[in-house]
Amino acid sequence: MSVATSQVERVIAECRRVLAGNRQRGIAEWEGKPYDFVCPSPTTYPFQWWWDSAFIAIALLHVDPELAKQELRCVLQGARSDGFMPHMILWEKSAHARALESVQPIRLAHPFYTATIQPPVIGRAIERVYQATRDAAFVRDVLPAVRRIFDWLDEVRDPDRDGLIAIIQPDESGLDASPKYDAAMDIPFDPPSETLPALERSMYRLYDAYEGHSMREEPLQDMFLFEDVMVNSIYADSLRALAAVCRAVGVDGAEILEARRAKCVRALVAKCWDEKAGAFWDLSGKKEERVRTLTFSILFPLILPELDASIARRLVQDHLLNEREFWLPYPVPSVAASEPSFDPEWKTDTTWRGPTWLNVNWYLYWGLRQHGFDDVAHELARRSIEMVARAGVREFFDPRTGEGEGARDFAWTTLVLDLIAAERGEQPPAA
Ligand code: GLC
Repeated sequence: MSVATSQVERVIAECRRVLAGNRQRGIAEWEGKPYDFVCPSPTTYPFQWWWDSAFIAIALLHVDPELAKQELRCVLQGARSDGFMPHMILWEKSAHARALESVQPIRLAHPFYTATIQPPVIGRAIERVYQATRDAAFVRDVLPAVRRIFDWLDEVRDPDRDGLIAIIQPDESGLDASPKYDAAMDIPFDPPSETLPALERSMYRLYDAYEGHSMREEPLQDMFLFEDVMVNSIYADSLRALAAVCRAVGVDGAEILEARRAKCVRALVAKCWDEKAGAFWDLSGKKEERVRTLTFSILFPLILPELDASIARRLVQDHLLNEREFWLPYPVPSVAASEPSFDPEWKTDTTWRGPTWLNVNWYLYWGLRQHGFDDVAHELARRSIEMVARAGVREFFDPRTGEGEGARDFAWTTLVLDLIAAERGEQPPAA
């Protein structure tokens, strides 16, 4: 690897410092439940977020696998018996009342958790924990709750039964203010100062519309209904991973998970793939209108091993390696540089409108390797590691300069530990 060894060692030390420093432990005011997890950022995001914890667990495997298991066990305490899994758990609600203000508008289903979902990265995280530890007892322990979550997603979030799950507000993809949602959220292109207020207004409008409806009824309102390519790629990937661990530890039910996965992947290709554009587009509303905004989501099916080699090649050659779009000095930008909404400097004061994020690079890195684009994967890892070495463990980065932006000491950026280990050939064997 061509980033200097001393720099890489510094990144590793910084990541370990953040993972230790962001740890929150205690007994919650919520029924005296004990919690012990690594928060995204102690100042900006002191709560436990669902997809963050899955990424953090994977990073923790490079520090102490027991902490990785604990991270997942802790977040799964938020899983409801009906299978609903909230995107935020407010373990220290009263201690962090001010931080809670800054993550508004959120909608609560309970005093201690939200009524919102997030991408189900958990399947991949459990597979990685199992590959690293071979701890079948851990897998058997967490699987029932996780299976219920995936059943809920299938039953509640796929009302048209096409295999693709839907999100009902932008935060549910974790990509809060991505411009691909602008039209659905009535966000004007100009001026940048209007983006955030318009987004907040639309969020409250959605919350009002969902008020009084059961969770099963919410998607049927068709107020905001996105079959999001990134969310569904992650969903299909986790279904694959869960089926693999079920088989490895001798738990029944792998076939159901695999059937759901196959249906989801078929629908992604049949409905979202645009042969002419060489891109996968999200589908909006019951009418499933294609949303043609170039964000990194168009590339996400690269994480699926069965993706046709010719489609994978188009994604990589036409878009990822396109220097006018995604192959910037510090890829992969959340929005292509060719889009009018590309905001690498964060002028709109909202997220996912241009900067580069480590969790995206991490997923795409493994996808590229799986499809044989090893050189591209190595280069992506190299630039990602260099970016963190230069700017620190920041929330996101300017794709043109690599400058750090957003929160400091942001936990999922420590996924760079997994890239470093992979580049050094230190990955545990596959399940
Ligand atoms: C921001 C991100 C979201 C993440 C959360 C906590 O809201 O957009 O994806 O889960 O912060 O890190």
